[in-house]
Amino acid sequence: MESTINHSLTPKVTPKLTVATTIFTVMSKLAADCGAINLSQGFPDFQADPALFEATLRAMREGRNQYPPMIGMPELRAAIADKVASLYGVRYDADQEITVTAGATQAIFTAIAAFVRSGDEVIVFAPYYDSYVPSIDTVGGRAVYAQLEFPDYKPDWNKVHALITPRTRMIIINSPNNPSGSLLDSGDLEALAGLTRGTDIVVLSDEVYEHIVFDGARHASVATHAELAARSIVVSSFGKTYHITGWKIGYVLGAAELMREFRKLHQFNVFSVNTPCQIGIANYMRDASRHLGLAAFYQNKRDFFRAQLQGSRFELLPCRGTYFQLARYDAISDLPDLEFAQWMTREVGVAVIPVSVFYQDGRDDRVVRFCFAKQEATLMAAGEKLRRV
Ligand SMILES: Cc1ncc(COP(=O)(O)O)c(C=O)c1O
Repeated sequence: MESTINHSLTPKVTPKLTVATTIFTVMSKLAADCGAINLSQGFPDFQADPALFEATLRAMREGRNQYPPMIGMPELRAAIADKVASLYGVRYDADQEITVTAGATQAIFTAIAAFVRSGDEVIVFAPYYDSYVPSIDTVGGRAVYAQLEFPDYKPDWNKVHALITPRTRMIIINSPNNPSGSLLDSGDLEALAGLTRGTDIVVLSDEVYEHIVFDGARHASVATHAELAARSIVVSSFGKTYHITGWKIGYVLGAAELMREFRKLHQFNVFSVNTPCQIGIANYMRDASRHLGLAAFYQNKRDFFRAQLQGSRFELLPCRGTYFQLARYDAISDLPDLEFAQWMTREVGVAVIPVSVFYQDGRDDRVVRFCFAKQEATLMAAGEKLRRV
């Protein structure tokens, strides 16, 4: 006989966080319920390269299925060190300065937990990726908000300067930026280096879209800036780079002193990450064309999607990187963006993300985010619907 949980016996819990289900889950579910084309959550609807699966399966068949070293498989850390050296001209020590993580989200949480103490302040640029602030809250830190200024989503470093106090422990940056598609450039890195000089501020640089930059731009990794690299944890994600968001594997780079602290938390947070997937990726990434080709691959998708929206009433904002396209909809509706996104999903049949959810105060510029990491057929079908709005 089956029984069910007796809820009257469950202890009372005081919620640690006051957060709702993320908008990504909400919109993906609504899209599925309404049969809408899902351009909301950021994941590809196309298959990854079978060569990656074969490399991973080979590792499984060779019996490489037990716990890997806590910091990551040596062959994967070596491949990451080589890739970073060749792209950014700096060699991180594979044993002391690179750690493989269970995706970028875990890396971000672990970095925040490693460096932020109760009462510490963390500067976050709005609009921001949704895991940053709950992670800061969980460890008792306080998010302090700077702005990427609408509509070009660039930071104003003078305003950031004014936010720095003796309690500032960390600054989180994200370029290429989700949701805005904007990029930081070498001038921004210089400004950030100037602001943090002589302080103990740790920079957490979320660079998960590092390979997805368009129109000939170069990704300005903090790794390229010697002074910043020394105080930074750099986060990347294989999910974004190899179309495997469900594998949840990424890595962090950081100076040995910072990495030691990071690993203390990592050790008891996840301990280690899927062995055969690490080996599969290590073999696969040795062919640099696989990450170097990503920018052109997604630039084609961006251009294809933008062409689909030609003649629609959406006003497209610039998209310099990532696989997200922002659009203003003033010419279509004066609904708040949350309601507009729901209406789009239910009535138009295309699910989008309202950009106000990326702001702590719900700032609403009447902008929605489309994900164009989709097959051309999906983008074409969406385009047909969107041109009719
Ligand atoms: C800016 C940013 N950081 C981190 C992540 C999380 O990456 P992962 O799936 O590797 O945890 C995402 C995923 O959408 C993201 O957009």
